[in-house]
Amino acid sequence: IYKSTLLKYQGWYITGYEETVKILKDSRFHSRPPIPAFSRNYANVRRIQENMMLFTNPQHHRQLRSLVTKFFTPNIINECRPFIEKTVDELIDQVICRGTMDVVSDFAFPLASSVIAKILGVPAKDYPLFKQWTATFIQSIDFTRSPKTLGNSRKVTEEIIAYFKKIIRAREQEPKEDLISKLIGEKQREEKLSYDELIATCVLLLIAGHETTVNLISSSIFLLIQNPRQLENLQDNPEFITTAIEEFLRFESPAQLIARTASEDITVNETVIQKGEQVYLFLGAANRDSRKFQNPHQLDIARNPNPHLAFGHSSHFCLGSSLARLEAKIAIQRLLQKVRNLQAVDFNGHYRKIIGFKSLVELNVT
Ligand code: HEM
Repeated sequence: IYKSTLLKYQGWYITGYEETVKILKDSRFHSRPPIPAFSRNYANVRRIQENMMLFTNPQHHRQLRSLVTKFFTPNIINECRPFIEKTVDELIDQVICRGTMDVVSDFAFPLASSVIAKILGVPAKDYPLFKQWTATFIQSIDFTRSPKTLGNSRKVTEEIIAYFKKIIRAREQEPKEDLISKLIGEKQREEKLSYDELIATCVLLLIAGHETTVNLISSSIFLLIQNPRQLENLQDNPEFITTAIEEFLRFESPAQLIARTASEDITVNETVIQKGEQVYLFLGAANRDSRKFQNPHQLDIARNPNPHLAFGHSSHFCLGSSLARLEAKIAIQRLLQKVRNLQAVDFNGHYRKIIGFKSLVELNVT
């Protein structure tokens, strides 16, 4: 835990495992929307961000999360299994015909897009839009609140809001069996969910369900190609897939960094973090803390137990963790079954220059 005076990222940097858990458990550390309250120009976007569970604090958060959690239970997520398997098989078959693929854009992205589109009930044909939105959106989450960042974030969020308003209007008239129709049901039931909360939840699920899952699948395949013994081990022992996914999550955590703000003076490890100060939690570093993990820089697909923090911890723990795990498990298992001799065309692994996410630009394999 140390204080950075870097102008752009002023605040406390937390890289230790126990310290990260301590802060995430402490509800006096608040999540806050990226758009500041004072910027009147961004009032519409700010209103939606204020209603995203990710940026809400205890009471509002509990109420919002409990309404959505019931549609994300492991049993309900397991119902997506046949759709995920079918999508994965179709994508792999296309690749086998072609002989090469970019894992990011030909496999991981269409998979994550199709699954979240199917769950929400938005047309999968719109997935180039999702791709463009998520790319701009994650680039704009750099916590610095610079005018350029805020401008990008506003433009994209306004486009997504308009998109969902149209779909919500259609589902209000003609409900379907999708999550948006179910959430509209919650809104109508004693006004349990306001219109802003409904839109905010749709936007959050679309964005949150995308980039990180794409990164997990792409990084996992890259790690396996770089570690041929582990790849062989997994191909010979497919039952290791569950521990392997947890290890990929630990080793190359898709969400590397999250942030909190101290709502009062709080002491952590004898250090006082003052009210209003920003705290950056480096999940990727905490997941390599040698005080918690033996040989932390060694990839071990059989590592067990593996209490990594890739999905966060405590109240804001990732709502989509079961879905992400299921998608990654099916995608990697089936790819390894169908393609025995997977090889990278380029071993350089170009990662996007963005703070907060471990995101491969492309990964060409044969
Ligand atoms: C929250 C990571 C996939 C929906 C979070 C948080 C992390 C995370 C670290 C906590 C953020 C914080 O405390 O500030 C990941 C990773 C994923 C993934 C690594 C894939 C490998 C998904 C998917 C969905 C999803 C597929 C939904 C379809 C959410 C939501 C929250 C969240 C709604 C906010 C929960 C709350 O505030 O209570 N995720 N996520 N995530 N994630 Fe995920």
